[in-house]
Amino acid sequence: MPACGYRRFMPILHSQELSNYVEVNGSPSGPDVAALLARTADVAGRLAVMSVSEHQARYLEILTRAMGVELAVEVGTFTGRSSLAIAKGLPSGGRLICCDVSEEWTAVARDAWQAAGVDSQIELRIAPAIETLSALPSGEPIDLAFIDADKTGYLSYYELIVPKLRVGGVILVDNVLWSGRVIDESVDDPDTVALREFNAHVLRDHRTFSTLLPIGDGVSMHQRL
Ligand SMILES: C[S@@+](CC[C@H](N)C(=O)[O-])C[C@H]1O[C@@H](n2cnc3c(N)ncnc32)[C@H](O)[C@@H]1O
Repeated sequence: MPACGYRRFMPILHSQELSNYVEVNGSPSGPDVAALLARTADVAGRLAVMSVSEHQARYLEILTRAMGVELAVEVGTFTGRSSLAIAKGLPSGGRLICCDVSEEWTAVARDAWQAAGVDSQIELRIAPAIETLSALPSGEPIDLAFIDADKTGYLSYYELIVPKLRVGGVILVDNVLWSGRVIDESVDDPDTVALREFNAHVLRDHRTFSTLLPIGDGVSMHQRL
């Protein structure tokens, strides 16, 4: 099982009860999602927390549908929760390219895509994401990208995606608050340092317009100008 440097994060909201309230106050996810989450808990154990939370999944689905996304790219698929959300928001004919290095985890995702009837719209590429992103043709503009993989790779993934993003297209980046460690100067592990550098880097990038949303473990959003 490849590691991606992930640790359990604390909810940004001030109480677990309020966090639970956020999770349940949205459109119901449906039995396919419940089955996926149960299987993820079985195969991944404590690493099941790597899946995006339900409020993030709903956000991804709504944004994909609202933007009329024709081509989406996901970096870090795991067992498929975020890819399922993006795929459900695609129009018929829309495509999602998923990047991951784990056959084992993405086997769960493949089953979930099939159960939801979106498998024909998803291409899974098993390889280091740097290779997959470098090989994407520049003639096919990306409308939406979601980065949620190894934190030390974030800057490279962003830099590979921006030139292929259509004007108005959006990159979403997960875990950018890293449970608050990004502002704790006593923490200097490689993942935290990489996330700090990433957050500072995108602020200096005049090709995109950015914001940081305090949802999940912090999601930043970068729109190509
Ligand atoms: C946090 S999980 C993704 C969770 C997923 N977005 C979801 O909601 O279920 C990170 C994933 O990144 C993958 N990963 C780690 N390093 C990678 C790399 N260099 N290239 C591609 N994928 C990578 C891991 O195998 C893991 O499945």
